[in-house]
Amino acid sequence: MQINPLKFGSVEIALPVVLAPMAGYTDSAMRTLCLEQGAGAVYSELASAEGIRRDSGKTFQVLETAPGEQPIAGHIFGRDPQAMADAAKQVEQTGLFDWVDLNCGCPVKKVVSRGAGAALLKDLPHLGKIIEAVKNAVSLPVSVKTRIGFNQSTPNHLEIAKVVEESGADMVAVHARLAKNFHGGEADWGKLAEMKQSLKIPIIGNGGIDRPEDIARMFAATGVDGVMIGRAAIGNPWIFHDWQGRLEAGDTVVVLERREMMAEHLRRLVKLNELKQKQLKISYRYSPEEAACIQFRTHIPYYVRGMFDKKQLLMKLAQLTNVDAIMEEVDVLVAKNR
Ligand SMILES: Cc1cc2nc3c(=O)[nH]c(=O)nc-3n(C[C@H](O)[C@H](O)[C@H](O)COP(=O)(O)O)c2cc1C
Repeated sequence: MQINPLKFGSVEIALPVVLAPMAGYTDSAMRTLCLEQGAGAVYSELASAEGIRRDSGKTFQVLETAPGEQPIAGHIFGRDPQAMADAAKQVEQTGLFDWVDLNCGCPVKKVVSRGAGAALLKDLPHLGKIIEAVKNAVSLPVSVKTRIGFNQSTPNHLEIAKVVEESGADMVAVHARLAKNFHGGEADWGKLAEMKQSLKIPIIGNGGIDRPEDIARMFAATGVDGVMIGRAAIGNPWIFHDWQGRLEAGDTVVVLERREMMAEHLRRLVKLNELKQKQLKISYRYSPEEAACIQFRTHIPYYVRGMFDKKQLLMKLAQLTNVDAIMEEVDVLVAKNR
């Protein structure tokens, strides 16, 4: 299948299969692993516009990237157009990002109760004001990550597409589920196809990619300009490699590859936490290694998916707070699965 590069403003994504932003997962450690496996672009973790504006060190840490981690969007949320514009300007000034992305799809209570994220889909004129304010504030391209609607009685996918485009966004990424459904139920690719038809700006489709072969299927079924992968990339950075027809390696190699990827992921998380703790001179409850091991707990079940007797490891996870202890248990599991 011929896939064209995705271009918007100064951004060019050579192979537009990108990693979705996922709070709590897609930190620099996971993003760099996915980029190395072939992800076309990544998004920063979600940062609050108000936090950026207040110059909160913690918010800026959310925006940390690793050297060479590109192309990457600075992904921000908020309600107030001026706060979003100011935050976008600060994101631009870091010099770390290729474009600014506005979150208009997050359904979690903490965000929606502030009138931000998916709540903006109930008030499209206000969403338009945010996009316009941000566009006027920065010279980087601006994209919107959104959904096909909030619920059945709020503006629909085509009304959203129209406002996003007319307000000046350079690209839109659309999760093909209603916000009220969070991440459940089937993704509606038909709506992605209709949005593609109605838009002049490029659209990235998202939702319902479970296996590598779904990527080509989404391109073909919807005509979207790019595909975004979320949960299927957790514990599985290879998805960005496999879909291009990589030959299946033998099971032994796959298990060993998984072991090596886990070790590397953990190493990067430790480094990330060391950097974080050096930057912000506040007292931390956990050492960088302990913090990394705790963060890695959410990734491990995905890395060992399908492995025989993984329950032993998963049950011990809460007690494993150093890298050697985790890798020892992983090696026991790998030995059983070779
Ligand atoms: C744990 C988790 C965290 C997420 N965090 C964000 C986020 O911070 N910003 C955002 O726009 N979407 C977020 N999403 C939504 C994903 O980016 C994506 O749209 C969604 O998971 C659907 O894609 P998928 O079916 O490939 O997983 C999150 C999803 C998950 C599962």
